[in-house]
Amino acid sequence: MNDNIMEKIVALCKRRGFIYPGSEIYGGLTGTWDYGPLGALLKKNIKEEWWKSMVQLRENVVGVDAAIMMNPTVWDKSGHLAAFTDPLVECKVCHQRFRADRKSEIEEHEKTHKEKTEWTSPQKFNLLVKAFLGIIEGQQAQIYLRGEITQGAFVNFENVVSSTRVKIPFGIAQIGKAFRNEITPGNFIFRSREFEQMELEFFVRPIEAEGNKWFEYWKNERMNWYQALGIKKENLRLRKHEDKERAHYAKFAEDIEYNAPFGWSEFEGIHHRGDFDLSAHNLSYVDEEKGKFIPWVIETSGGIDRSLLFFLLDAYSEENGRTFLKLHPKLAPYKVAVFPLLANKENLVSEARKIYEDLRQDMMVAWDDRGNIGKRYFAQDEAGTPFCITVDFQTLEDKAVTVRDRDSSKQERVAIDKLPEYLQGKLK
Ligand code: GAP
Repeated sequence: MNDNIMEKIVALCKRRGFIYPGSEIYGGLTGTWDYGPLGALLKKNIKEEWWKSMVQLRENVVGVDAAIMMNPTVWDKSGHLAAFTDPLVECKVCHQRFRADRKSEIEEHEKTHKEKTEWTSPQKFNLLVKAFLGIIEGQQAQIYLRGEITQGAFVNFENVVSSTRVKIPFGIAQIGKAFRNEITPGNFIFRSREFEQMELEFFVRPIEAEGNKWFEYWKNERMNWYQALGIKKENLRLRKHEDKERAHYAKFAEDIEYNAPFGWSEFEGIHHRGDFDLSAHNLSYVDEEKGKFIPWVIETSGGIDRSLLFFLLDAYSEENGRTFLKLHPKLAPYKVAVFPLLANKENLVSEARKIYEDLRQDMMVAWDDRGNIGKRYFAQDEAGTPFCITVDFQTLEDKAVTVRDRDSSKQERVAIDKLPEYLQGKLK
């Protein structure tokens, strides 16, 4: 793997406007990040691809968008108040706090002290973020910002069944923000306190064979989705959860992991939640033939921020002195950039503006007339833009432009009136 790739990605993200530290002008807020113009587009593209694959192209999945703030009883019933905890230890020398189960972080910290470091015994630390709601000071209700988006799908289970035509097996999909008071946020956007999840809760008959069949099915679907969007096969693996690491709601679970510079790391969990949640909320399903029963749930729970980081890491390329992001065209923030060869030649600029205005009706198109063409290619390579179009003096005569490919740097002439068709074919 490329040396210092994390440092390079963090710097590129800041330089090009993918990701900035949260509230930076006031010294930041630990565990929060802001997405800049390119990052917001990349994130939106990941979400759109997920929604298309999980909802739009499936008859047996519907989407919801539930509230972030929920009645606190939800978190009591779901087991999060009692069990959504991490083991916390405190360094007795400097009082910094760490997760007891992150051995490497503890060892790293111990190296910062000359004396032998002593630790407090592990305490259970609840990860739910508290908030206060209401208009009378002193009488506000304490609520929680959702620790997983999942519960929004469960509490609406009966609403969805009664307001749509879904029949078991079916799924409820959702994308949204979740919040966790992580003890040690870190590795850039990998572990933060505010992040976004993309989840499917898939309801099946409570039969062993059904549960196993759908677990395998969703595991494969999700692995294939990441590969179809360009993540290299050798950088992906599945890992079964050991008994001690399983979440309180899971019968069994496997993680999709990425071969990150900081080690193999989870970015999506496939969980067999059994009837844990529907039972906890006292919910059931009535089947015309089989009567009333409590379905089991197979969940696919992915992190948008983590997958975005891994899409960036996987796409990062340095070849022949060039740095470029080999992002899948469906994910690339801008699909095309348009340049007039010279910014001070009115006829070149107006021809290029026409192409720019025309193409941007259908896709995100960047405009750049600063510096020389080499500098513009350099900037678009780092933004991951698959194609650059240059309008030159020849264009004024032959009505064709130079199209340059991000990955090969090859250039070809394409007639202006054939550009939309040419790009549509290449951007699939
Ligand atoms: N509903 C199940 C659930 O939330 P999880 O394994 O706790 O399961 C699912 O979280 C995914 O959410 C993770 O695989 C990860 O991608 C993302 N995620 C969890 N905690 C995160 C954090 N602190 N920062 C960024 N992403 C996180």
